[in-house]
Amino acid sequence: MEWGLENRLSRIIKPETGRTVMLAVDHGYFLGPINKLENPRETVSPLLEYADALMLTRGILRNCIDAKTETPIVLRVSGGNSISNKEKSPEELANETITTSTQEAVRLNASAVALSIYVGTKYEHQTLKNLAMLVDEGMQYGMPVLAVTAVGKELEEKGKDAKYLALSCRIAAELGASFVKTYYCDELEKVVKGCPVPVVIAGGKKLDNELDALKIVYDSIQKGAIGVDMGRNIWQSENPAAMIKSIRAIVHGNCLLDEAYHLFNIEQLKAKTAKRLCT
Ligand code: R5P
Repeated sequence: MEWGLENRLSRIIKPETGRTVMLAVDHGYFLGPINKLENPRETVSPLLEYADALMLTRGILRNCIDAKTETPIVLRVSGGNSISNKEKSPEELANETITTSTQEAVRLNASAVALSIYVGTKYEHQTLKNLAMLVDEGMQYGMPVLAVTAVGKELEEKGKDAKYLALSCRIAAELGASFVKTYYCDELEKVVKGCPVPVVIAGGKKLDNELDALKIVYDSIQKGAIGVDMGRNIWQSENPAAMIKSIRAIVHGNCLLDEAYHLFNIEQLKAKTAKRLCT
């Protein structure tokens, strides 16, 4: 691997464990100010020290993140649509273009760029071309590309299907993505086996309880994922810091699921006690 590319990638995927806990806060690029991400600075600040990388758009990076941060940045560079179109024509959410150049990503000292691909949709060809173009540009600058296997409204059911996700991840790797972000599914090991680059898992919608979210993380690691790029199940949690620490315990510390959940409850109790003592 070219030195610059390897150096950037090793800032995100920690060489000590070969794993990563990425914090995703890029949701506003098509969802706007969603619950608990209305003020990204407030959401991110207490979590930054526990994140191996932060995934976001350039606008939120520039306006809400301190430039002195040492946390590596994974810059979302695709978009061009919004949730307001979803009811009218759900497939249009997949109509993404590249919104930020690789030169700009270099200027912002990003450690990787990320884009969504929509395999099996009307915009499959366009989004795969976006990926191939970004990989070509990335090669010139030593910039790794993270391909996000988005599913869009029309493929919501397929988004849980190992065969579909294996297809999307493999195509992303074939086109040159340095790593791939996908969803958890029952036969995730098949997805990982067919994908020659590292796979990280998104959390998806906020689950009813933290144990369920930690189980996704635990099962993903058991099935070969090298970590997570998670958002809502961290910062929409009752205790985001406790949640990300417990995820780290699984990803980097090889903790069992019940150990990680125990850690979450201890951290939760500590935070509640501290709050009570201070009021
Ligand atoms: C999509 O909005 C983004 O790529 C998110 O970064 C991704 O879905 C991960 O966030 P979450 O864990 O909330 O699904």
